[in-house]
Amino acid sequence: MIVRRSAREIECMRAAGAIVAETLEVCRRMALPGVTTGAIDAEADVCIRKAGGTSLFKGYRGYPGNICVSVNEEVVHGIPGTRVLQDGDALSVDVGVRLGGYCADAAVTIPVGRWTPETTRLAEVCRESLDRAIGVLRPGVSLSTVCRAIQTYVESQGFSVVRRYTGHGIGREMHEDPQVPNFFARSMTDVTLPEGAVLAIEPMINAGRPEVEVLKNGWTVVTKDRAWSAHFEHTVAIRETGPDILTLRRT
Ligand code: MF3
Ligand code: CO
Repeated sequence: MIVRRSAREIECMRAAGAIVAETLEVCRRMALPGVTTGAIDAEADVCIRKAGGTSLFKGYRGYPGNICVSVNEEVVHGIPGTRVLQDGDALSVDVGVRLGGYCADAAVTIPVGRWTPETTRLAEVCRESLDRAIGVLRPGVSLSTVCRAIQTYVESQGFSVVRRYTGHGIGREMHEDPQVPNFFARSMTDVTLPEGAVLAIEPMINAGRPEVEVLKNGWTVVTKDRAWSAHFEHTVAIRETGPDILTLRRT
């Protein structure tokens, strides 16, 4: 069942989303060669708490970090720790915050030092696929239209879409209905998205094959072929006027 959020609830989610966006900005500023992923996690924790929020991820099914940090061939759910960032790394940071009973969730792939043109292109295509998915949102749009917008663009650019993990509805919980795949399959039951639906749309795209596996720590998802991966995510409400991105910094 897809919950429709009132204008008041959407403003609560926007408040949580502003903390997410601010925390991602702090992570972006810290993402320099020589810095550990654990140090970035610690700063993110400070940023989230100072703003009165709590991490959605910490303790979720036993997840140990405040944020997820996934480097290069790591796709999602990388655990912060002693890994030292290197020049040219692609650092995907995922942040989820609860504030006043409402959730918001967003992710970005950040350059550490200078990227090669190939890495730049991978991240740009992922970012653009998210923008295209957001661009089709309006009351009454089919979920499959969102899925297709991502897959069609990503594959047209020569990259692949991860199948194993999806975006999701979000509200009072991090994961609500519906699942939001980044690809379309005819076997999927389609739904119409109503005004007030709020989605966390999160394309995960690979430079190589779409297959992934989970490392022995039980969390870190990596590409099977170890080709690099990118991940962008926004929490977006469907309003009468069109898409309303809730994970932006407050100006
Ligand atoms: N954005 C991810 C998701 O929607 C983050 C979950 S990380 C976890 O599933 F640690 F909480 F699992
Ligand atoms: Co998410």
